[in-house]
Order: sequence, then C-alpha cells, then structure tokens
Amino acid sequence: MNELANQMAVVTGAGRGIGHAIALKFAAAGADVVCISRTAANAEKAAGEITALGRRAWAHALDVADAVAVAATATRILEEAGRVDILVNNAGITRDGLLMRMSDEDWDAVLNTNLKGAFLLTRAFARAFIKQRAGRIINVASVIGLMGNAGQCNYAASKAALLGFTKSVAREFASRGITVNALAPGFIETDMTGALSEELKTAILKQIPLGTFGQAEDIAHAALFLASPAARYITGQVLVVDGGMVM
Ligand code: NAI
Repeated sequence: MNELANQMAVVTGAGRGIGHAIALKFAAAGADVVCISRTAANAEKAAGEITALGRRAWAHALDVADAVAVAATATRILEEAGRVDILVNNAGITRDGLLMRMSDEDWDAVLNTNLKGAFLLTRAFARAFIKQRAGRIINVASVIGLMGNAGQCNYAASKAALLGFTKSVAREFASRGITVNALAPGFIETDMTGALSEELKTAILKQIPLGTFGQAEDIAHAALFLASPAARYITGQVLVVDGGMVM
C-alpha cells in the first residue's frame, strides 16, 4: 500500500525505538523521511535504511529542546526537501524520581525535551504547513499523561501537557486543513523501557488486559493511520495504544 506516496515526513527521535519504527513504516508506505535524532550516527543509520527502501531520506542531528538549532534545522530541511506534509514529535526522555527528591535539572530536562521540543518543531514548520493548507502533526504522548505514575511526575506532566498542546493546536490549525493528533502508547518494548527491573515489568504486565507488552511496530501502525488519507476527518484526538491498560 502506498498511502503516503509523495508525502514528506519529519520524524524526531527516529534513530531508535518508536520513532525508528514510524520512520521506516512511513517510508514503506511511500513517504520520503527526514530522520532527526540527538546523535548523527543514529539519524544517518535510519536514513540509510530508508534510502535502501527506495525513498529519499535526510539525517539531522538535533537537540529538539534547543530553540536556535531547531529553527536553523527546520530552515535547512525546507530548503533540502522543499516541503513538509507530516511532522511526528516523538523524541522523548525519562528522568524518573520521587517528587521529594526530584532535581530542577531532571524536571527541566524532561519538560524541555518532551514538551518544549514539540512546541519548537511545530512552530518551526507552522508557516510551511499553513501555506500548503494541508498537513498532519502527530505528537507521541503516553498513557502516563492520562493516568499519572508515582516516580514520574515530570514525565507525566510533560505528556499531559502535550495532550493540551495537541488539542489547542488542532483548534488553531483546523481551518487550514491541518490535523493534529496524539498517540498515547502504553508499555512498549524499547531501550527506554528495557532499563526497568524485571520485578517492575512483571507488575506492569499484570495491568495489561491483552497480556503482552507492545512493540514499536504497534505504534508505527497507529501513526501511519493518523498520517494517512483514511484519518482526514480526525483531529484533536488521543489514540491510546496500550493493550487495554487504560480504559
Ligand atoms: P527511546 O529512548 O528508545 O528513543 C527515544 C529517541 O528520542 C532516541 O532516538 C533519542 O535520540 C531521541 N531523543 C531524545 N531526546 C532527544 C532530544 N533532546 N533531541 C532529539 N532527539 C532526542 O524511546 P522510545 O521508547 O522509542 O520512546 C519514543 C517516544 O515514545 C518518547 O516520546 C516516549 O516518551 C514515548 N513513549 C514510550 C513508551 C514506551 O513504553 N517505550 C510508552 C509511552 C510513550
């Protein structure tokens, strides 16, 4: 299926995990993809895999929380690729800890990457989207933004705020034919969750009605749907992909 033929997608955090799966899924559906990652090596590896699929790809090493760098990179992307049709704000981090012991640094790092990063990228491409009078923006949030989690007040706050951001921008951009939606993954097996203890993973598994952890591919399928023509009448929504963890 070539649902994304002639589309140009920008995916942050495309070097590994969920972002990597989304970038490859989009390319397989016919899109050209700009791969953004913190490290050049990861971004270039993902871009190489996309080129091997016969699509155009670009790699950019970028800290999404760096306002000056985001603006400069967005300008370069628009020069190189000419347009942007789909933006996936996926880059995200955790710096877990109980509130009483949480440092200012850990709070700021998580809010700056997970929330401000999405704002900076969306703002940087807003003019291009509006000029085209078409576009898809997909923000990767989390079920933790819906339910909260002890030890993750910074992460939960960033993801809950990302949902408010999604709905507000959806309202601002709707009249221009641009949809803005969020994905809320549950527990997905990636490097991010790989660091958790077996004990914690066993406890989390018990809360998942479908009885298994999700894969990055599960989120990529949902992202492809939101980016595809089939989702043209969906905006301001949160699509939860979590094996039934939150109902
Ligand atoms: P990961 O740690 O495997 O990959 C994160 C990617 O984001 C990496 O490529 C990294 O380079 C990039 N990144 C991090 N900070 C960045 C920055 N400042 N600038 C540019 N790139 C940056 O994580 P994973 O699991 O693939 O997560 C992707 C997204 O999905 C995150 O937003 C995460 O919060 C969200 N998520 C993940 C879940 C899971 O269970 N793995 C569950 C719910 C949401």
